[in-house]
Amino acid sequence: MALRLGDIAPDFTVDTTDGKLNFHEYLGDSWGVLFSHPKDFTPVCTTELGMVAKLKPEFDKRNVKVMGLSVDPIDSHRAWVGDIEETQGTALNFPLIADSDRVVSDLYDMIHPNANDTLTVRSVFVIGADKKIKLIITYPASTGRNFDEILRVIDSLQLTAKYSVATPVNWKDGEDVIIVPAVSDEDAKAKFPKGWTALKPYLRVTPQPNK
Ligand code: BEZ
Repeated sequence: MALRLGDIAPDFTVDTTDGKLNFHEYLGDSWGVLFSHPKDFTPVCTTELGMVAKLKPEFDKRNVKVMGLSVDPIDSHRAWVGDIEETQGTALNFPLIADSDRVVSDLYDMIHPNANDTLTVRSVFVIGADKKIKLIITYPASTGRNFDEILRVIDSLQLTAKYSVATPVNWKDGEDVIIVPAVSDEDAKAKFPKGWTALKPYLRVTPQPNK
């Protein structure tokens, strides 16, 4: 059955560009991003992998460990890494899974046969420190992802895990948030000492509590 939000991220042990790794051990107490790309030596994937490498300090800041995947073998990954460095100006700095036997792709349902029955689509899984899946996004092969959006969602996920808030449309870290309807006005007084603006009884806007 397909994975859903709240499921435990399936564990696996695989060959990667950083050697054999067990996924849950690799994550440790960190959050995680597991993402697939369709194929080595392809243009969009080359730009994506370069961007994820450039954003590593941003993932580190959020205590997030990243792992990439395609069904190409390890020798292909190792050969391609040089192209990423040459064209994107950054060395690969996170492990890439060589999933030629499709163990992980099948576990995470990353091959969508009606799109392509041999290659992984562009899947993204964000996994919490509790190993539960917090976000699943799927892009087609033809569309490169926006990894700033992945960071933005992680900011929201980490904030809403700690505080009784939700983040509104197009929210970015530092902007006002919404008090969840389950919190009464009485309880909100203690939880949100900066106060709030009630646009409607169910739409209460408050400054981001951890800023
Ligand atoms: C790419 O990364 O450029 C790509 C990969 C597979 C299909 C289409 C584009």
